[in-house]
Amino acid sequence: MSTKIDTDEPLHGRVLEHMHTAVLLLDSELRLRYINSAGEMMFAISAQRFVGQVIHHTLFEKEVATALEQVLESGAPFTERELVLDLGYRRRVTVDLTALPLNDGGGEPELLVEMKQVDRQLRITREEGLLAQSSATRALVRGLAHEIKNPLGGLRGAAQLLERELHNEELKEYTHIIISEADRLQALMNNMLGPSTLPHKRLLNIHEAVERVRQVVGAELPSGVKLSRDYDPSIPDLYADLDQLIQSVMNLARNAAQAVGNEGAIKLRTRTMRQYTIGHTLHKLVAKVDVIDDGPGIAPEMRESLFLPMVTGRVEGTGLGLPIAQSLINANGGLIEWESRPGQTIFTVLLPIEAAPTETETKP
Ligand SMILES: Nc1ncnc2c1ncn2[C@@H]1O[C@H](COP(=O)(O)OP(=O)(O)OP(=O)(O)O)[C@@H](O)[C@H]1O
Ligand SMILES: [Mg+2]
Repeated sequence: MSTKIDTDEPLHGRVLEHMHTAVLLLDSELRLRYINSAGEMMFAISAQRFVGQVIHHTLFEKEVATALEQVLESGAPFTERELVLDLGYRRRVTVDLTALPLNDGGGEPELLVEMKQVDRQLRITREEGLLAQSSATRALVRGLAHEIKNPLGGLRGAAQLLERELHNEELKEYTHIIISEADRLQALMNNMLGPSTLPHKRLLNIHEAVERVRQVVGAELPSGVKLSRDYDPSIPDLYADLDQLIQSVMNLARNAAQAVGNEGAIKLRTRTMRQYTIGHTLHKLVAKVDVIDDGPGIAPEMRESLFLPMVTGRVEGTGLGLPIAQSLINANGGLIEWESRPGQTIFTVLLPIEAAPTETETKP
């Protein structure tokens, strides 16, 4: 229950109470006069307890709290877009915040604070971008790789015929080079074409895939790199292609290993999320695999094109690891997301947990 704004028009109160935007009214001493239900929910506080108290320092970090004080002093409104609020207990929300000084009525000024939560929208827009990027490049690459593969086969065959006619070992070296380079290009094209077969899905535990990656990548790591795990063992089985999951998580883990170099820490973490949207589809339950490293982070110039083929920041890289991982996970109904800052990069594989199509009931 919220303390209603003192107005004799109950309609205003009803509208405010049903809004998704959090609304707070502070008096000239910055005491809370009013908070609507969305605000109570966002900050997990009760209006009854807190009305009359000065709490902007409790609710906001120092800079924002100070900015609010300045709005009252200066009379100039304050707006901050995509402000991250740390709500404690690991709860963080991103909001667009507006603070408006109210001076109507000529009495003491008041401060109206509005906060619209934007993280869900930001995430969906970014995901749409990732999915569109991934399908556009797949189409382009498929066309190109197809055009290259045919003449390449002819080239290789002709070199083989030529080799049979040659009796000079020195000259044969040249045909060897043609054949082995054609094979290398062929393998690259196959990689760029991505999975040639449809996924062979079966019910599996996500940890089958993650543990395999841990073992394989763990064996390749230099002794200064620590590979740890943090699993949620209660994740229900999901319907996916095991090899494809292994391949994708492996690509992410190898990137993490390359990012940390000879010293650092990599963590494989599994969790579930309820009521989570991937692309446009809302799923009741989603499995999440995080590959976390403490390396230098994604270079700024790579951020927009990370999932495009041939985009690499490494001398010996082919730039195919991420686009292949993304297309494999997309084929299994999921998505790869990422966030990165120096010292912490997280690549997240999201996979919907749904029953096999032969079953009629979907698991909760
Ligand atoms: N965890 C990470 N930390 C920092 N940079 C990363 C990380 N993961 C990927 N990158 C950057 O993204 C680039 C593209 O990665 P991707 O896996 O697609 O290709 P690659 O690793 O360069 O080559 P390949 O995987 O084909 O051998 C990398 O070269 C690297 O610059
Ligand atoms: Mg890679």
